[in-house]
Amino acid sequence: MKIIGTGSSLPKNTVSNDDLAKFLDTNDEWITTRTGIKTRHLLTTEDLYDLAVDAAVKAIQASGLRPDQIDFLLVSNVANRHVTPGLSCIVQKRIGLTCAGLDINVACAGFVNALMLADSMMKSGHAKNILILCAEEPTKYCNWHERDCSVLFGDGAGAVVLTEGNAFKDVKLTMISDRDVLYYERGMETTPFESHYIKGQPLVMKGKELFRTAVSESAKDIKTILDREHLTPDDINWFMLHQANKRIIEGIRTIVGGTEEQYPTIIQKYGNTSSASIPIMLDEMLRADQIRQGDKIIMSAFGAGFVSAACLWDWEF
Ligand code: UT7
Repeated sequence: MKIIGTGSSLPKNTVSNDDLAKFLDTNDEWITTRTGIKTRHLLTTEDLYDLAVDAAVKAIQASGLRPDQIDFLLVSNVANRHVTPGLSCIVQKRIGLTCAGLDINVACAGFVNALMLADSMMKSGHAKNILILCAEEPTKYCNWHERDCSVLFGDGAGAVVLTEGNAFKDVKLTMISDRDVLYYERGMETTPFESHYIKGQPLVMKGKELFRTAVSESAKDIKTILDREHLTPDDINWFMLHQANKRIIEGIRTIVGGTEEQYPTIIQKYGNTSSASIPIMLDEMLRADQIRQGDKIIMSAFGAGFVSAACLWDWEF
C-alpha cells in the first residue's frame, strides 16, 4: 500500500490565545508554555461536512484518479451532529463517489487504525484504491465556559488516497479500556422504561493522567516498531505524531530519541484536531516538498479509550 494523494481543509476562522482570554480565565503565556498552541481554526459559517468534502476532493485530485476509481471510503470521526447516518454516507455523493464506505471511531488514533484497515482490504483483494478521510470538530464537544479543555482543540479535516504498493511496512494497535480519563457523553432520548436517565455532558478530561499515559504508550508503540524492524531513531526521517500537546511530543522524543527536526509539529497553528492531525500534517509536508522517496516515517497517535497506534512507512511516490 502507498499514499498517492493528500488533501486537507481548515475552517476560515483563526482564533488566537488572546481571543480566548477575552472570555475565559486564561492567557497566551499559560497556553503556549503548557501546550505549544498559539492559534486554532474554528468552524463558524462552514460546517464539518464542507471541510470533509474539501479535503477529500483535494486528495482525489492530487492522486490523479477519478472519483469513480475509488473502491472504498473509510471515514474517521469522533462525533458530528448526526449520530446516524454515518459521515461516510453524508459526504459520499458530494465527493462524487459511488463506492461503499464505513465510519470508524477510534478517537485521535483513527487515522492509523484506518490505515491498518485499508492495508487489510487491499491484501484481501477487496479494494485497490481507498480514500481515508479524517474529519473532526472537537470544539463542538468542549464546555466553552471552562478553560481546561476548550483551549486545546481545533477543527479540521485531512484525507489520503491509497493504492497498491510496498510503502506501508508495519503497524501496531493498542487498547487499554479506561473510559474515565477522557470522554464526551451525548444525551439520548428518554423512554418510559428508563429509571436512571443520564444527560449528556461536554468533554471530561483528566489531563495529567492522559498526558502520562499518552507519553508512555506512544513511546512503547514506537519502540516496538523500531525493534521489530531492526531500526534505530537515526534511521527514521520523520516521527509524525498526533498533535495534542507540544510537551507530549517532547516527552515521547525524550524516551524514543531523535532530534527536534525529526518531529515536525502543526500544533502551534491548529491545536488538537483529533484524528485529522496526522493527515493534515502529512498533506502540508508533501505540498512543501519535505518528504523524499525512501524516507522512513513513523506515525503514532493516542486518544480516548485509551487507544494508541503506530505504523512505519518506507515512502514511495
Ligand atoms: O487527544 C487527547 C486530548 N488531550 C490531551 O492530550 C491532553 C493531555 N494533557 C495535557 O496536555 C495537560 O495535562 C494540560 C495542558 C491539559 C494541562 O497541563 P498541566 O501541566 O497538566 O496543568 P494542570 O492541569 O496541572 O493545571 C495547572 C494549573 C491549575 O491551576 P492550580 O490548580 O495550579 O491553581 C489549573 O486550574 O493551571 C490551571 N489551568 C489553566 N490556567 C490558565 C488549567 N487550564 C488553564 C488554562 N489557562 N486554560
